Amino acid sequence: MREISIRAEAYNNQFNTSEPEEILRYFLNIYEGTIALATSFGAEDQVLTHICTSIDPECEIFTLDTGRLPEETYRVWERTERLYGIRIRPLVPEQDALERLLREQGINGFYESIEKRKRCCEVRKIDPLRRALAGKDVWITGLRREQSVTRSDAKVVEYDEQFGLIKINPLLGWSTQRVWAYIREHEIPYNELHDRGYPSIGCAPCTRAVAAGEDIRSGRWWWESPEHKECGLHLKKRKEEKEEATHE
Ligand code: ADX
Ligand code: SF4
Repeated sequence: MREISIRAEAYNNQFNTSEPEEILRYFLNIYEGTIALATSFGAEDQVLTHICTSIDPECEIFTLDTGRLPEETYRVWERTERLYGIRIRPLVPEQDALERLLREQGINGFYESIEKRKRCCEVRKIDPLRRALAGKDVWITGLRREQSVTRSDAKVVEYDEQFGLIKINPLLGWSTQRVWAYIREHEIPYNELHDRGYPSIGCAPCTRAVAAGEDIRSGRWWWESPEHKECGLHLKKRKEEKEEATHE
């Protein structure tokens, strides 16, 4: 574990200020077969899909199909597969766990408390993500620093303590304007909800449109405060947990 984290730090020093294409070209080549792009079909992920498939048309791209995604997301999923001639690997929630969840907290229990919301994200996203990342050395995400207070200290290349592998965030420093300029320039397909006031798109019942000038992620889990707005895909261990671990 320590060894991967040192390697991630060295990579970060090397690629910290590099262009996404250079970073992806390097990692897709070195880690061929053990690297995958995680897409939720958001604007950033569409940029990454475009770049990754241009470097390696066979590269693995996966999505966590929670079963509660908006219809528009399924539409852009289909359009993306057709345009790039690819099949995106779908990960769906485990059947028994999902049935248990619905029995225990109801179909929309996630509105009732943060615990219930996290439980739903655990079954529909985190467990499937664990399966997606099994056997992988590196995963690629569309995280951007600008998106949220919870992402301000993310790195371009980092050791993902939660899942035990390297995580690369090639668009970390990009602005919203830069993402959209790239999409327009390369005529990349995007989720039509972006044109209807949705800068960040997750599950349908947990995402709503935001007003102009409002925070990018204010439409995600809007009933919760900003520091809770992570579903667990991108959590860092809290400082106290790290200290506990080093004293064990
Ligand atoms: S989330 O944690 O709040 O849902 P967000 O929607 O901002 O994350 O997306 C950040 C990155 O996480 C995306 O660019 C993508 O790499 C990954 N991601 C988020 N949701 C999914 C999903 N459903 N399937 C695959 N990857 C996802
Ligand atoms: Fe469940 Fe909402 Fe999390 Fe989707 S975003 S997994 S519906 S709580």
